Amino acid sequence: MLMQNVELDIKQIFGSVSESDVNSIMPEADAALAHLNNGDAAGNDFLGWLDLPSRTDAALIDDINATALAMRSMCDVVVSIGIGGSYLGAKAVIEALSPAFGAPATPQVVFAGQNIGEDYLYELQTYLKDKKFGIIVISKSGTTTEPAIAFRLLKAQLEDQMGKDEASKRIVAITDAKRGALRQLATEEGYKTFVIEDSVGGRFSVLSPVGLLPIAVAGYDIKALIKGAQEMQNKLTVASDDNITLTYASARNALYRHGKKIEILVNYNPKLHYFGEWWKQLYGESEGKDHKGIFPAAVDNTTDLHSMGQWIQDGERSIFETVVSVAAPDHQVVIPSDKDNLDGLNYIASKRVDEVNKQAELGTRIAHVDGGVPNIHITIPALEEGALGALIYFFEISCGISGYLLGVNPFNQPGVEAYKKNMFALLAKPGYEKETEEILKRIK
Ligand code: PA5
Repeated sequence: MLMQNVELDIKQIFGSVSESDVNSIMPEADAALAHLNNGDAAGNDFLGWLDLPSRTDAALIDDINATALAMRSMCDVVVSIGIGGSYLGAKAVIEALSPAFGAPATPQVVFAGQNIGEDYLYELQTYLKDKKFGIIVISKSGTTTEPAIAFRLLKAQLEDQMGKDEASKRIVAITDAKRGALRQLATEEGYKTFVIEDSVGGRFSVLSPVGLLPIAVAGYDIKALIKGAQEMQNKLTVASDDNITLTYASARNALYRHGKKIEILVNYNPKLHYFGEWWKQLYGESEGKDHKGIFPAAVDNTTDLHSMGQWIQDGERSIFETVVSVAAPDHQVVIPSDKDNLDGLNYIASKRVDEVNKQAELGTRIAHVDGGVPNIHITIPALEEGALGALIYFFEISCGISGYLLGVNPFNQPGVEAYKKNMFALLAKPGYEKETEEILKRIK
């Protein structure tokens, strides 16, 4: 039986690195945790996420839940607009908790502003025609191009469909407390707003209103999510031998230092697909800098065993995997017996599908270890809010520690500006005249 919301097992990495390799990094991990707790290392102005669960009081939860309830009563569809950290956390939690089939829940939470796909936006606008919809617009900076385009389009559509006053009641903005275009617009239009604290970076913001409001609108229990995270905060911010964040961060860095440059987050539950996407942003943006960093990839098994399985088993030996297992599914499905047995499956008749899935997982983990892919194993008890909150916090704090072990500032993202500069130059944005001239010469 699982005693904790998150359990970690690193035994299956010891064919590639030794216990002493990992143990030798532990003092560095202790020091990194102390830096986080003391706020005395790089990026220390972005540590608001560290105690966010314990600072999220009942008043904020009540305000978010009341806002969600109002949106649920007014809207059939709520569009959550945002990109990167203003998108992936809510998407990950909602996908993990939602049924895979059936009519969409009411209100249905859909996402926009996470791409600039013209067809995506056209089809969304078409879908929303004649529907009662609302908007949660999320942007910390308030100036990100993708969500700004989506918001401009959908705000105009909502105002056309409902009139300006009614539209304003159905729009909630989540942004900086004082600065930025979105804050100014929200003030002028009288939107309900929530604040993204200065000290909470986008990819660390899922446990703030950024993630909590869309999750609450989707009907899930944000109090339990925060409680799960808070329990982990209590355990993982304290240096001790059984602190699993120190072990995970040390293990992945030991592997990196021994040439394992790619970490694959593996799930055996399709509802965790977007959790992998959230995790990729968290680790990719935090660690990939100064020409260093473990490359974060993700696969959904057993689906991807039939596409990526060959590479993982037999390709270049530069990878390790971190498998996230869900101990108990929500439902039971038993494989029936068949009198003709033409498919030869009677040997597993009367077994639960999950039992087969678990043996596929175990068999794959053993095969990968045999094939030179070290395996870190994380288990959560179930796909429910408390366990997800705990897992989110575990990965966030491990990321902070791991970034310090790599010797980078895990809390900035200077690299994401390069594409924006070129895009603005190509689009002749005012203020980019010199860049426009230069880039046009390059593409002649
Ligand atoms: O981690 C980050 O800070 C970024 O990926 C942002 O989340 C993303 O660019 C969205 O930014 P914003 O919320 O300012 O629109």
